[in-house]
Amino acid sequence: MTCRICAARTREVLHLGSSPPANWLKVAPEEEQESYPLVLEWCASCLNVQLRDTLPAEVLYRDYLYVTPQSATLEAHYAALVSYLVGAGLIDERAFVVEVGSNIGHFLRHLAGTVRRSLGVDPARQIADQATRSGIPTVPEFFNRQTASLIVAEYGNAELVVARHCLAHNASPHEMLAAASTLMAEDGHLLIENAYVINTIEYGEFDQVYHEHMFYYSLSAMRALLRLHGMRVVDVLRAPVHGGSIVFLAARGLDGPVSHRVDECLTAESRYLNIEALKQFASGAQQTARHLRALVLALHRQGRLIHAYGATAKGATLLNYTGITRDVIPYCVDSTPLKQGRFLPMSNIEIIPEGSAEHGRPDFYLLTAWNYQEEIIAKVRASGNTTSRFIVPIPVVRVL
Ligand code: TYD
Repeated sequence: MTCRICAARTREVLHLGSSPPANWLKVAPEEEQESYPLVLEWCASCLNVQLRDTLPAEVLYRDYLYVTPQSATLEAHYAALVSYLVGAGLIDERAFVVEVGSNIGHFLRHLAGTVRRSLGVDPARQIADQATRSGIPTVPEFFNRQTASLIVAEYGNAELVVARHCLAHNASPHEMLAAASTLMAEDGHLLIENAYVINTIEYGEFDQVYHEHMFYYSLSAMRALLRLHGMRVVDVLRAPVHGGSIVFLAARGLDGPVSHRVDECLTAESRYLNIEALKQFASGAQQTARHLRALVLALHRQGRLIHAYGATAKGATLLNYTGITRDVIPYCVDSTPLKQGRFLPMSNIEIIPEGSAEHGRPDFYLLTAWNYQEEIIAKVRASGNTTSRFIVPIPVVRVL
């Protein structure tokens, strides 16, 4: 196929079979769902890693149920971002900040008192309404040039446009970047945060591959992409969220000052951005799935009760690629009220609230939200549960 950044030919590196989109939680287990292939491909020209088959955003996001969890890890990350932005002089009390894919507004809430005005944009209607009602004004639309022009007409240009964990959720990033360019003030900045493909490869996080993740960004690919929109990456930061993330700061103009971190990061990337590393990543995925399946089935045969923890998109890929269903894991615990009472796609595992006693205390939790491992284990122990053990699937299957 072709690279959706630079149009060069791509090469397949990982095939995880077919499944319904990971966040299509079912109302009933009998509900029929369409499956679509999960295939990862690589562009040797601009070093882009992308999903081969993409679904239209309209299909994925209008009835989206993902609500950013309340998490100490995320809160610390938001505070660190704000302090970086203030320290680097990118925002002050005169700034207008727009966050795209702002969900229920956790990050924007951290800017209150620091900037003049902030505005969210999110196409998931229920979630945008919830944010607006809670005091974070949110435009319930897809972010494109039209939405950007309407925002400029009403509020003026933005000193900072933020797109955290959403650029990769578009089959083509070009419309969103053109929209960001429309919205940004002449000397404004664009902050893009994404799960970092180098962490994905290094830690064998094959469960980061699901239909919403249409791109697996590196600095190398991001630079190539931004260049096409007349922008350059001026700085990069690493962040310990979502299994390892990267924050790109971009400004207009292809020439101009750039942090030393950009060159350092590009050099470090070359070790993982090659076909050998990607092939190894693919065989690691097979190995992890084999180990996990063998372990879960053995525990099940011994009569042990196993629940999953975290109705994550990652979990859907993990369970479906591994072939684990509700026959062996009947329930998945999750703190999100919108998800509770629904069923994971394909595996048909029922989602139940945290601390719900009626389904029994499991001998093991499979940590499908392994990115919140420490937080979740501490929470379970603090609730008085000192007996359940934890199966951590990534980077390699371990029992704690
Ligand atoms: P997330 O890691 O954002 O996953 P993905 O991007 O793969 O969908 O989702 C975390 C999920 O875990 C979310 O549905 C909420 C849930 N969760 C809990 O149930 N309890 C917790 O303490 C935390 C931190 C998360």
